[in-house]
Amino acid sequence: MNGEFQTPDWVCDLMVNMIPITDNPKVILEPTPGEGNLVRAIQRRFSQCRILAPNDIYLFHPKEKIDWTVSNPPFTPMSLGFSLLQRMKIWCDNIVILLPWLLLINSEERTDWFLRAGLSEVIHLPRSVFGSSRVQACVMKMTPRRSKEEPIELTFAAPQYIKRGGLSQTGAKKTKNLLGVFE
Ligand SMILES: C[S@@+](CC[C@H](N)C(=O)[O-])C[C@H]1O[C@@H](n2cnc3c(N)ncnc32)[C@H](O)[C@@H]1O
Repeated sequence: MNGEFQTPDWVCDLMVNMIPITDNPKVILEPTPGEGNLVRAIQRRFSQCRILAPNDIYLFHPKEKIDWTVSNPPFTPMSLGFSLLQRMKIWCDNIVILLPWLLLINSEERTDWFLRAGLSEVIHLPRSVFGSSRVQACVMKMTPRRSKEEPIELTFAAPQYIKRGGLSQTGAKKTKNLLGVFE
């Protein structure tokens, strides 16, 4: 399958860093691995964990408990991204996923779905991440275990880190400073 838009390494690291290190996941699913950028980022952070990276999500039938899913699925059309997310949710509740912002906000029904799925964090990605042809994307984290009282954290990823090219772990953490860093 052709993947036109592979995930830049700094975005992969940012996504994988959203999984708490204390969770010590044993099994992580990358359901649409493409050229494997996210898989390598998972290996960098969780070197001991088992990574499931199927060639075809439609032929994938997990036989073990999946602790986390990390994904940048195909999302053209947008409904494809959402239907793949719904499929992932059957296998695992803890999800970090890159999707178009619009998916979250342009349908009340879908917004409700995300809230019920335990949306806890949204990171707005600069449009330049995927070049001019890619829609405005964000990374969403869903963890139903969190308390319903907790606010949803919104972060704007800082473009200065992109200009530098590869992003260090420190840079990824700085990116999580709320709102102040977006120029
Ligand atoms: C936006 S790209 C992201 C690639 C990868 N996750 C990364 O780390 O950059 C989406 C990927 O989904 C893959 N893909 C498309 N349909 C798929 C399917 N049915 N099962 C598994 N992967 C699929 C494509 O090959 C493409 O590389």
